[in-house]
Amino acid sequence: MSKLAINGGEKVRTKPFPSWPMWDEAERNALIEVLESGQWGLNNSNVAEFEEKYADYVGVKHSIAVTSGTMALVIALIAADVGVGDEVIIPPYTFTATAGAVVMMNAIPVFADIDPSTYNLDPGEMEKVITDRTKAVIPVHVAGGPADMDGIMKVARKHKLMVIEDACQAHAAEWRGKKVGSIGDIGCFSFQASKNLCAGEGGIITTNDDKLASTCWSYHNCGRVKGGARYEQRGLGANFRMTAWQAAILLAQMTKLEEQTEIRNRNGIYLSKKLAEIEGIEPARRDAEVTKHAYHLYMFKYDSEKFGGQPRASFLEALTAEGIPCSRGYHPLYKQDFFKTPIQRPDGSQVDYSKLYLPVVEKVCNEEAVWLKQSMLLGSQEDMDDIVNAVRKIKENFAG
Ligand SMILES: Cc1ncc(COP(=O)(O)O)c(C=O)c1O
Repeated sequence: MSKLAINGGEKVRTKPFPSWPMWDEAERNALIEVLESGQWGLNNSNVAEFEEKYADYVGVKHSIAVTSGTMALVIALIAADVGVGDEVIIPPYTFTATAGAVVMMNAIPVFADIDPSTYNLDPGEMEKVITDRTKAVIPVHVAGGPADMDGIMKVARKHKLMVIEDACQAHAAEWRGKKVGSIGDIGCFSFQASKNLCAGEGGIITTNDDKLASTCWSYHNCGRVKGGARYEQRGLGANFRMTAWQAAILLAQMTKLEEQTEIRNRNGIYLSKKLAEIEGIEPARRDAEVTKHAYHLYMFKYDSEKFGGQPRASFLEALTAEGIPCSRGYHPLYKQDFFKTPIQRPDGSQVDYSKLYLPVVEKVCNEEAVWLKQSMLLGSQEDMDDIVNAVRKIKENFAG
């Protein structure tokens, strides 16, 4: 048995994995073009061109480019008419912004537990928490793996709920051949630096609904009317417009997205096959309906019992020492500090999250989940073998 690197043995891997973001002359030239055009604002056509290309790519009629994924969610909630006291169902296994956007609307996030194998919102759990105050649901395609959109849409339509897809981690992902962001009423994406399509910051809203699109467009552009005069502001809004610089980068990055997604899918499927052979490791389930995964993260479950009773923290430390960067990922979102104070309903009653305990997400967060970053999946098959070999080596050492 070879000695673990954490105990002074040789590392499985000494080379770094591919870093992120990736760029070349295309991004450099696109930025210089904006600079030298002198058209740095609304007179530059990059944003409109990117919006058109992205809408086509996702397969929707409209897209509105904004400053971030968080603002995409906020503006989508405004368009969905979510306001004070309205309930919005969200999964507790997501980035803080999914809940933050709801709280910013003075609305009430209602958490429904996740599926234990995909870590995405469980449609059965979602249905259990619907009340007559529920206005919308935000399924999150966590780690770039599409949520069960058949189940979620069925429950949502039955109860007349608006569906806002949080696709911030799921560019290019597909559920039964349809791109995420085109299945619900509105889709929201982020282009923050870590994302599979990125410009440092940025976001976009996608929809097929003319009225929702028009409200989103107006809100993100100071309350203006599309096609109207510059000072024809009719509604409330602010400046949440994407810049020409971001759009320049995104137009260049988009030409690489399909090829990168193919590589991530090839490596992700290979890695799952190999890791599943190790007792005590269970890759996150990829449903048969997932025709393309974004693999923004690669997630698997660690079962400490099968690893000699060693806790996940020891596994993460040992794996990192072997040259495989990894992390534990999220805490249940309702444990965030901003949920420590109960939320007030308009009728004076309070929503107290302090006693909320959703068993699946608690176990996933506290004991099981292990995350690898998307850019690691842009490496070669040998890079994937290094990951598998490191996990095997730890298993041998831990389980004896
Ligand atoms: C699931 C999810 N929702 C929302 C966001 C918010 O996006 P942004 O950071 O662009 O505001 C992110 C990104 O970090 C995310 O991962």
